[in-house]
Amino acid sequence: MAKYLVQKSGPLKGEVGISGAKNAVLPIMAASLLANEKCTLRDVPALRDVNVLSELLQYLGADVEKIDDNIYTIYTEDIKCVEAPFDLVKRMRASFLVAGPLLARKGRAKVYMPGGCTIGARPIELHLKGFQALGAEINQNDVESYVEISCNRLKGAVIYLDFPSVGATENIMMAASLAEGTTVIENAAEEPEIVDLANFLNKMGAKVKGAGTETIKIEGVESLSGCSHGIIPDRIETGTFMVAAAITRGEILIRNAVASHVKAITAKLSECGVIIEETDEGLLVRGNVNPLISTNIKTMPYPGFPTDIQSPFMAFLTTVEGSSVVIENIFENRFMHVPELNRMGASIKVEGRSAIIYGARPLQGSKVIATDLRAGAAMVLAGLVAEGTTEISEIYHIERGYENFIEKFRKLGATILRIDE
Ligand code: EPZ
Repeated sequence: MAKYLVQKSGPLKGEVGISGAKNAVLPIMAASLLANEKCTLRDVPALRDVNVLSELLQYLGADVEKIDDNIYTIYTEDIKCVEAPFDLVKRMRASFLVAGPLLARKGRAKVYMPGGCTIGARPIELHLKGFQALGAEINQNDVESYVEISCNRLKGAVIYLDFPSVGATENIMMAASLAEGTTVIENAAEEPEIVDLANFLNKMGAKVKGAGTETIKIEGVESLSGCSHGIIPDRIETGTFMVAAAITRGEILIRNAVASHVKAITAKLSECGVIIEETDEGLLVRGNVNPLISTNIKTMPYPGFPTDIQSPFMAFLTTVEGSSVVIENIFENRFMHVPELNRMGASIKVEGRSAIIYGARPLQGSKVIATDLRAGAAMVLAGLVAEGTTEISEIYHIERGYENFIEKFRKLGATILRIDE
């Protein structure tokens, strides 16, 4: 298994370019199944997750061509198979996003349940509730853990989401785009990735209004055509490098970042004394001006503080004077990085969905595990400021979701070695 050896690296300095958003490209690739013409996607991040979804789309009958690392064409003249097999779905739970497009285009989908992961049970009942409201019949086989969804012609409906689920909003939007009549999604997720998906669907000829607000209206159309689309920059990668500048007390210019997508992160880092300026060249983040202090964060659906930045931000909070409280409201088990940070000398206490960080403990290099994608990034950040060497295993989590992760950090002055054991 590959590992990272991270050395104490001093303040990071320089420029970094942000890649296309993982959480935008995955639903958009799934949505390309809705078109019977070729779609061209630009600014696609070179990630394992993109490769896994490409494999699934090809299995379903799509012709997926990698023009270069960041440009793909996807052409699905006809869907040959409506079943997303277990061995593909288990490798990436976002594979469940093919359910809506399959249902809309072929009237049927058989998808293995994505199952949980380290951060939580990750149920899909809101997705299924949406499909049912559109007229689909659901057969859930819990023994073999797959779900079959079928419907001759989906009919528009008003759907209220008990929780503004990102994936459920995306799956319902995609299914509703070819339904008969109008669908309204109430209490919809408002993430920028939802807006990017809606823009892509509308380029294909869909009629989606209100994406980015809590109410999305979709007027069904007969068919969707091909289009060309550039994926938005990754706001979670942007936030990761913003926190990297803070934890290392460095100065990083983050190119092609979308400042409006990271307002909550900017607000919280500013409370800690980090200086963040929007410049013509990008977002300039300076953790080397003021003494940095503690703050409290609670993760919320967008535009609240993003759960995906909770663990990197917690690594930073272990290095500032004062105590901080972190409340994780989105996932029920997203503190797996706490024992790893404590092993490095941090002092963090977890009480249910709250964690109390007693700050300014000197971190020591240790052997730690990347327990999920973002926790892995948090361990790298902690390793950059810990005395000595931090050995991080299970780094496949990190590499599935961040493009050229250590190369970008090395360019900023980080000393990180990747070893294959
Ligand atoms: C998306 O996951 C992202 N993944 C996640 O990013 C992100 O953390 C999450 O949204 C929240 O922002 C992708 O976009 C591929 P949800 P998703 O449905 O769609 C509960 C990363 O690191 N829920 O908004 O699965 C669920 O259990 C990943 O890039 C239900 O209860 O998130 C969770 O507690 C991690 N029933 C909460 O909602 C449902 O039917 C948020 O889930 C669906 C979700």
